[in-house]
Amino acid sequence: MDFSTDLFLSHLAPTTPHPFLIPIERAEGVYLYSPDGKRYTDLISGIGVSNIGHRHPKVIEAIRHQLDKHLHVMVYGEYIQSAPNRLAKKLSELLPPSLGCCYFVNSGTEANEGALKLAKRYTGRTGIVSCNKSYHGSTHGSLSVSGNEARKNAFRPLLPDVRFIEFNSVADLDRITGQAACVIMETVQGDAGVRIPTREYMQAVRKKCSQTGALLILDEIQCGMGRTGSLFAFEQFGILPDILTLAKAFGGGLPIGAFISSKAIMSTLSHDPTLGHITTFGGNPVCCASALATLQVIEEESLLNHVEAKGILFEGLLRHARIREIRRIGLMFALDFDSADRANRIVDYARENGVICYWFLSHPSSLRIAPPLTISEQEIRAACAVILKAIENS
Ligand SMILES: Cc1ncc(COP(=O)(O)O)c(C=O)c1O
Repeated sequence: MDFSTDLFLSHLAPTTPHPFLIPIERAEGVYLYSPDGKRYTDLISGIGVSNIGHRHPKVIEAIRHQLDKHLHVMVYGEYIQSAPNRLAKKLSELLPPSLGCCYFVNSGTEANEGALKLAKRYTGRTGIVSCNKSYHGSTHGSLSVSGNEARKNAFRPLLPDVRFIEFNSVADLDRITGQAACVIMETVQGDAGVRIPTREYMQAVRKKCSQTGALLILDEIQCGMGRTGSLFAFEQFGILPDILTLAKAFGGGLPIGAFISSKAIMSTLSHDPTLGHITTFGGNPVCCASALATLQVIEEESLLNHVEAKGILFEGLLRHARIREIRRIGLMFALDFDSADRANRIVDYARENGVICYWFLSHPSSLRIAPPLTISEQEIRAACAVILKAIENS
């Protein structure tokens, strides 16, 4: 084993000048372990991934089973393989018929890239409408439709014909016109600091898309897979998207994303041109086996039934005069403080004392908490005690 900090800093490309630099040897349930035996409670689920905890035994078993059969055998969409077949069947049972056709990819940003291309291909239009403060990924297309302008400047030119509207503003929906191929939005904005729209707003978005012929893409890469208390967040708003995108927790710890739509819409990617969207590893059988086991665990362990009670417990425990506001849906929280510096100090103190929380790229004065849905009451109480101390010491 090699947990050398020098090696990490010299040979792995950095994304920030100040990475966490915690060596992690193994992970189980809500805990991460360093080689020196130090234990951390992962209150951010590896940023929205470990919704059923780390290394869930059922997921490990499904991966092992698939490893004994085959790994990659062909690029996406040619051979009939059992793991993607079974995953698509499971999703079709969980989703309405209009979301009965899945395209499996490798990541969240790729799911959104595929969804944007699909909307342009299906409608024959070029316009894209997105929301201020949104985050949809880091590749060129997804970055183009992400709302944090400052983060885009170094990478222009990006996609043309993208229009931004204010999230949760019904008045702004008038800016969606018949030129729009699609409207892309997170059902609950994550990186903006957990912004929860009203039911009325989401229904008005749906109506406007139907009126103008723009496809509604709901990005549930962060807020899906039970995070908000329902398997998919859109269920809580009484609407259906035309295209749904998933990733992160979808794979149970392995990399997989999906864009999901109707067979009629999805079929347009197979002609004019053929191979309209292609991927070598999308639908990788090991990742599909892991994703299917993850969906089964959520169901078999009735995890969704407990999300709200756990969320309320967190909210009740996290009371402190320095918290200006808590925004919460299910087990997805933003705690607002007066400055990014204070949020930083809280994150640092908590980490030093064995609890991992984080901030938001586009809202750095808030604390991000999104624990595994499997977290126990005792684990919640212990973690909140550390966070309260961190706030007190900030
Ligand atoms: C809402 C949302 N969409 C898309 C992405 C991009 O996913 P990935 O990092 O897998 O490309 C993220 C990642 O944080 C996200 O939160």
